[in-house]
Amino acid sequence: MTTKQDIVSRVLKGRPRRLRSAGSAFAPSNIALCKYWGKRDDDLNLPVTSSLSVSLGRLGSNVTICLREKSDSVVLNGKRFERGSSLARRVSEFLDLFRPDRRTFFKVVAVNTIPTAAGFASSASGFAAMTMALDDLFGWELDQRELSILARLGSGSACRSVYEGFVEWRAGKRPDGMDSFAEPLKAKWRGLRMGLVVISDKEKNIGSRPAMKRTRETSILYRVWPVKVAEDLPDLKQAIHRRDFPMLGKTAESNALAMHATMIDSWPPIVYWLPESVAAMKRIWNLRENGLNVYFTMDAGPNLKLLFLKQEATAVKKAFPGVQIVSPFGD
Ligand code: PMV
Repeated sequence: MTTKQDIVSRVLKGRPRRLRSAGSAFAPSNIALCKYWGKRDDDLNLPVTSSLSVSLGRLGSNVTICLREKSDSVVLNGKRFERGSSLARRVSEFLDLFRPDRRTFFKVVAVNTIPTAAGFASSASGFAAMTMALDDLFGWELDQRELSILARLGSGSACRSVYEGFVEWRAGKRPDGMDSFAEPLKAKWRGLRMGLVVISDKEKNIGSRPAMKRTRETSILYRVWPVKVAEDLPDLKQAIHRRDFPMLGKTAESNALAMHATMIDSWPPIVYWLPESVAAMKRIWNLRENGLNVYFTMDAGPNLKLLFLKQEATAVKKAFPGVQIVSPFGD
């Protein structure tokens, strides 16, 4: 059985090591249009299906890492995390994979430009930026595919945050996961907008990792999830290729709802929606009936991410006054 450490050794084999005093990197957050939900290997974060996302431009994580003695230290947005906290533990477990020896520790300073406190805390940009900062610190000079494979070991969706723009994570088939990494699509879509709508900033009561596992183990609907992805992925790529916005919006929204359907079908049931989430969905359906081209996607939480084009921004702001609008392609 392949372990995470085996993957790291394989990727770093024969690499130079030119240690610098500190390594830094930025990685964008990403929002999936076709979701990653369910692992075929829990330890290596190997997905059941491929997925497709769009990165959020300048919204993401800046990470600086340096070596230190005694113990790891994790500072996020100016706040130091206790060693026993779940975040610090998760970071240390990831760093364990890269320690030159057992007595070497790291100081990680992360600043998120995505509003963490607003319920959009994303481990994806954090683990991707950490992987890239480690590459900078140790001078490995890894290519993006290798960075994607390593970032995946921290959090599955992190493998997509190594790139800007539209990104596809190919599920791969190999048991060791060396063929499971993300790649960017060539197409750019200027004018595409994403709107972040905060319903709640409270920590969710079940994380994506146990929720995926429960869905896979107990939901009968989950059995057709790969069928849904097999339809949605090519549709999304075609919509991007043709700049067919209604096709993009419809496919992304329907994919997110299908993912949530598999969660609701799990036992015990997993429902991330709050009454306000459903109210926001209904407002979107109503706006669409009235001719506004706006769609949504949702992840493992109660918040919505709206999809629309630049020309609809004013109308979207009117309907969702608190919305934070993001331009994934920087225009
Ligand atoms: O990478 P994780 O374990 O945080 O899982 C992410 C799962 C979703 O956000 C719900 C879907 C996705 O593809 O990003």
